[in-house]
Amino acid sequence: MNKNILLALCGLLAVLAISTNSFASSEGALMHANVNVRDTAASQRGARLFVNYCLSCHAASYMRYNRLAEDLGLGEDLVMENLVFADAKIGDTMEVAMRPADAVSWLGKEPPNLSLVARSRGADWLYTYFLTFYRDENGGWNNLAFPNASMPHVLWQLQGIQQPIYATHDGQQVIDRLELAQPGLQTPAEYEETVRDLVTFLEYLGEPAEVKRKNVGIWVMLFLALFALLAYALKAEYWRDVH
Ligand code: HEC
Repeated sequence: MNKNILLALCGLLAVLAISTNSFASSEGALMHANVNVRDTAASQRGARLFVNYCLSCHAASYMRYNRLAEDLGLGEDLVMENLVFADAKIGDTMEVAMRPADAVSWLGKEPPNLSLVARSRGADWLYTYFLTFYRDENGGWNNLAFPNASMPHVLWQLQGIQQPIYATHDGQQVIDRLELAQPGLQTPAEYEETVRDLVTFLEYLGEPAEVKRKNVGIWVMLFLALFALLAYALKAEYWRDVH
């Protein structure tokens, strides 16, 4: 390859590395979700949380219930019994019952389709979002990852109620940390696991083929390793006669 082209490629990579870095720092400190999308049990628990707590407002309209049944290793009967409410059928997409116009008049904003939210926001952002809801001075919900979001803290009964503790930085009042003012049904550690399950499901939702892709990837790597051994053995065989 031409030297100049190589140089240009290196330059491009360096620019990309720097720009992704500065993007990460402008996002503020995110917590680490540590989700494993191949953990099907976590996705199953997350799917249940999703239909119970989110589907009333948010659709996931790129996902069909029967695909969910197949990917998460659940029978179609189990999915119909546990995950499908209202009059949806097993081949339907995950739609929301609320009319968009009603959502806007109740919440001020239409809740977005969550099919691809893990792709646009990332797992760490989602994890941080669900851990940093707090009740502000006016008695309303607010969020550190998404200030002034028009979504209420729908999991507050599980987490409890957090309140902000302020500190002064350069003469300005800023939120230093959140403190659990009223405990919920779960301990903080249990709630973190709940959020991890939910984010695992959202991650799966964002790329349903990811689980399969990763499983296939392992076999491809094994094949390549085996092939390299074979190729080496063949090379040794040919060169024996040349020497
Ligand atoms: C009462 C209705 C309601 C429920 C229930 C609800 N949400 Fe929301 N959600 C909203 C609204 C409205 C917004 C838009 C917020 C905004 O843009 O200010 C939103 C925004 C979001 C966002 C940010 C999307 C983005 O990229 O901007 C995520 C992620 C989200 N919701 C996830 C969830 C999950 C997961 C659940 C279930 C645990 C859930 N929501 C339950 C109403 C709801």
